[in-house]
Amino acid sequence: MFILGLQGSPRKNGNTDTLLAAFLEKAAAAGAAVHTVQAARAGVTPCKGCGYCETHGTCVIKDDPMSTELFGLLRQADMVVAASPVYFYGVSAQLKVLIDRCQTFWSRKYVYKLKDPLVATREGVLLSVAASRGRQLFDGIQLTAKYFFDAIDARFSHALTYRGVESKGAIRSQSRLAEDIEAIIEKSVRPMVARKKILFVSRQGGCRAPLAAAMAQQRYGDRIRTAFGGRQPAAVLSVPMVQAMQKIGLDLGYRTPLAMDQAFYGMSPDLVVTIGTTDTEPPMAGVETVNWPIPNPPGMEEAQMEGLRLAIGNHVDRLIQWIERPSP
Ligand SMILES: Cc1cc2nc3c(=O)[nH]c(=O)nc-3n(C[C@H](O)[C@H](O)[C@H](O)COP(=O)(O)O)c2cc1C
Repeated sequence: MFILGLQGSPRKNGNTDTLLAAFLEKAAAAGAAVHTVQAARAGVTPCKGCGYCETHGTCVIKDDPMSTELFGLLRQADMVVAASPVYFYGVSAQLKVLIDRCQTFWSRKYVYKLKDPLVATREGVLLSVAASRGRQLFDGIQLTAKYFFDAIDARFSHALTYRGVESKGAIRSQSRLAEDIEAIIEKSVRPMVARKKILFVSRQGGCRAPLAAAMAQQRYGDRIRTAFGGRQPAAVLSVPMVQAMQKIGLDLGYRTPLAMDQAFYGMSPDLVVTIGTTDTEPPMAGVETVNWPIPNPPGMEEAQMEGLRLAIGNHVDRLIQWIERPSP
């Protein structure tokens, strides 16, 4: 599984930074791949409120790290951890910039009616600290987190909030910290890490493999985690394929073909499915491999994409036999 941490405090090694790092360290020890984005240093441009995403489905700001990297990381994440100090009863401005840009995902979900293939299982976790002790101290931040996680197709599953935390390092004296983190690792991280991992490989990883990975992920939900890769990865996904998937409500926007060994963040899959009639040799030594002999479609017309979707769908149906096979 992949966990994306969004660190919202501008204070390096401050309480939020320390809290998020402690959480991610335990998650990594449980087998998760983790990555932290420091919101204060991410160089993300604030939302312009122009409405472009509602009419185009993508953000008008194409060249900043949100569009070139962070949207993609949010799509890959099984768990998004939003970490912020309370600033005037809300999240920090630095984190809010990233959150507001996710209006693009809100538009894809509510205007275009698209679902991310990971919608059934992605979780959102809130970590927060504040100096004072008022009863409603975290109400504002909880509401922002609720609507942020909804927009990125994540279920708001846990919140760890700590009052009376002000000077740098004060978070370390919270007596329940280790126990609170362990509860989330046990409840959410370990079950996600335990899912069987299936890697779909096609020549360029831009059409057949992502289509199969998305359909299998949607079909089998929390029983497996799929990823896709290419032997010689293309720069972008096939646009006709992405459009064909949109017709069945599946969102493959903001995803890119990856090299095979990067698809699971350097971790080894349990099964590799090669798709194609050439290049069928197992690409990863020591990993069980099967071949689905589905050729590249001869053209990119709508009917050909539909045919490809049906052909792959038939194989996805039969994947249940492998999923239900007891582990050796
Ligand atoms: C601009 C600003 C606004 C703040 N607003 C609040 C607040 O509304 N309520 C509160 O209890 N603490 C508030 N604080 C205190 C921080 O939440 C607290 O010191 C926290 O531990 C800082 O976390 P950090 O070390 O990760 O930056 C504020 C601090 C700053 C700098």
